Amino acid sequence: MGVLTGRTALVTGAGRGIGRGIAERLARDGARVAVHYGRSEAAAKEVVAAIEEAGGSAFALGAELGGPGDAEGLWAEFDRHADGLDILVNNAGIGSSAPIEEIGEEEYDRVFAVNVKAPFFLVAHGMDRLRDGGRIINISSGLARTAAMPHNIAYAMTKSALDVFSRDLSKVLGPRGITVNSVAPGVIDTDNTAELLHGSEDSWARVAAFSALGRVGETADVADVVAFLASEGGRWITGSWVDVTGGSLT
Ligand SMILES: NC(=O)c1ccc[n+]([C@@H]2O[C@H](COP(=O)([O-])OP(=O)(O)OC[C@H]3O[C@@H](n4cnc5c(N)ncnc54)[C@H](OP(=O)(O)O)[C@@H]3O)[C@@H](O)[C@H]2O)c1
Repeated sequence: MGVLTGRTALVTGAGRGIGRGIAERLARDGARVAVHYGRSEAAAKEVVAAIEEAGGSAFALGAELGGPGDAEGLWAEFDRHADGLDILVNNAGIGSSAPIEEIGEEEYDRVFAVNVKAPFFLVAHGMDRLRDGGRIINISSGLARTAAMPHNIAYAMTKSALDVFSRDLSKVLGPRGITVNSVAPGVIDTDNTAELLHGSEDSWARVAAFSALGRVGETADVADVVAFLASEGGRWITGSWVDVTGGSLT
């Protein structure tokens, strides 16, 4: 029996990167996990197979996010597999890294659509499925609180908006015993950060030096914190912004 046995979790963007780490961790704690993917169907199915092989329970759930009606589409698909939800992790996200004068309106709209609009409407259309006492965890970024990478300005703005969402939603859902928090990673080794970490010979060491702990973050560093917030131990934490940057902001 794990601490999340009997719970159902949905992790968006769980076919790879941080989302995969979170899905596998929640499954290890006993949750049945909906492994959502946008384009990475084969990868998501691999995650499901890995979870099942380890004795857990999961299913894959495909839905592009960020466009009109996408959230309703995801929930319609979810309803074919499960009849309620205890933990929603809004992890799917995209980056935007360019000087402000090079960011076109299309890119601006896209990064806001995927990083802000999608979680907003997933919650708006999914609140009835979320059981009382549940958890919502929004994956933000340390960049919401530091200007260390000013070319990520549009991306950082989306994560700040997501943080306001976490804060205000915690008041909306508090009466139902549902906690809502932002988890803010620093640089984590994923596809998303490949260029940043491997772009030149000294990139890895430079990024490692951002953190007080002198290393680059791993997906498990984030997944462990999400798992705690999702557990009974996280019951009195809500409306919070949890720094998981290894001390990059200190
Ligand atoms: N890596 C870092 O250093 C870091 C730091 C701070 C915050 N974060 C945040 O952590 C989250 C995960 O980052 P990551 O590094 O793991 O990213 P990643 O490796 O690039 O993976 C992104 C995930 O988001 C999904 N996704 C993107 N756009 C989508 C869309 N339109 N519809 C549906 N799914 C979509 C992808 O799914 P498919 O592949 O199936 O399309 C993929 O699973 C993001 O919100 C990111 O902003 C990352």
